[in-house]
Amino acid sequence: MNGEGKVVCVTGASGYIASWIVKLLLLRGYTVRATVRNPMDTKKTNHLLTLEGASERLKLFKSDLLEEGSFDQAIEGCDGVFHTASPVSLTVTDPQTEMIDPAVNGTLNVLRTCAKVSSVKRVIVTSSTAATLSINPNDVVDETVFTDLSVYLAMKAWYGYSKTLAEETAWRFAKENGIDLVVMNPGNVIGPVLQPTLNYSVEVIVDLINGKNPSNSFYYRFMDVRDVSLAHIKAFEVPSASGRYILADPDVTMKDIQKLLHELFPDLCRVDKDNENEVGEMAYKVCVDKLKSLGIEFTPIKESLKDTVVSLKERCLLI
Ligand SMILES: NC(=O)c1ccc[n+]([C@@H]2O[C@H](COP(=O)([O-])OP(=O)(O)OC[C@H]3O[C@@H](n4cnc5c(N)ncnc54)[C@H](OP(=O)(O)O)[C@@H]3O)[C@@H](O)[C@H]2O)c1
Repeated sequence: MNGEGKVVCVTGASGYIASWIVKLLLLRGYTVRATVRNPMDTKKTNHLLTLEGASERLKLFKSDLLEEGSFDQAIEGCDGVFHTASPVSLTVTDPQTEMIDPAVNGTLNVLRTCAKVSSVKRVIVTSSTAATLSINPNDVVDETVFTDLSVYLAMKAWYGYSKTLAEETAWRFAKENGIDLVVMNPGNVIGPVLQPTLNYSVEVIVDLINGKNPSNSFYYRFMDVRDVSLAHIKAFEVPSASGRYILADPDVTMKDIQKLLHELFPDLCRVDKDNENEVGEMAYKVCVDKLKSLGIEFTPIKESLKDTVVSLKERCLLI
């Protein structure tokens, strides 16, 4: 146990990735301050409150990304902060208020609090591979790549736009205010769900089972939620960790996932007879040398897929 005696805050704790971060932190002995929008909403909090170690070392705080100072109470006295909260959706009515403001201003809101709380040693922000996209198919993408915002603007792809702008804003603020910031850039995250509802990245698997091909899938890279969460924690614990980390299995493409699902669950998968929804091959390569330096190993993709589907069945989320 590395976390004994340490206090950390996790924002957006009821979310898919954050729930796993909270679970692993508790297992490592940390005391966790978990922020949620509504601590009274048992549908969003019960799975956290029943985690091993939660009764002794987990406390819920009410915080909203759009309320200035909303994270002060949760972060006061913390050694570290994991900022995961951000809207995750590909469909929005008003991109500015629903997506960009919470992602960008919300990140600034959290970082402003971190800057004034002297006990905070390091902040881990969850960005996305959406912020590391290259439009050149011959590129090998690594942590030096920042997506050109004009690409997202032209496509009206507001999620990618919000994540890229939020990360750029975080780096600028951290540099100006002397914050030790480490950024995680996950691909499409799969693996068992702890929360009772379906989140966007796991819905991709449900769609594939139902014979649908999620939009933009060509660019997706995958990683298991347990590896992604452990990477967040290692990024906090390993003193030499710095900069950005791409969290994506370089060898697994959307096409592999589609094929494996049909092999593993032939009775479950609805076959698309017209092959209309067959996905193409991935165009560009990803370099994950930096992630390996954190000591993270990839859960085999078959195991991830099996565990994802089992957890979806248990929660009656396969529809
Ligand atoms: N899953 C992936 O494949 C993936 C890949 C790359 C990056 N990421 C990033 O990882 C983080 C977590 O994603 P996830 O997949 O775990 O998604 P998720 O399950 O939808 O979690 C998102 C969390 O953000 C919270 N949130 C949204 N708007 C908020 C607001 N205005 N104030 C406070 N909290 C707010 C949500 O709270 P409510 O529950 O109250 O809505 C939820 O807890 C996000 O930053 C996402 O961009 C995810």
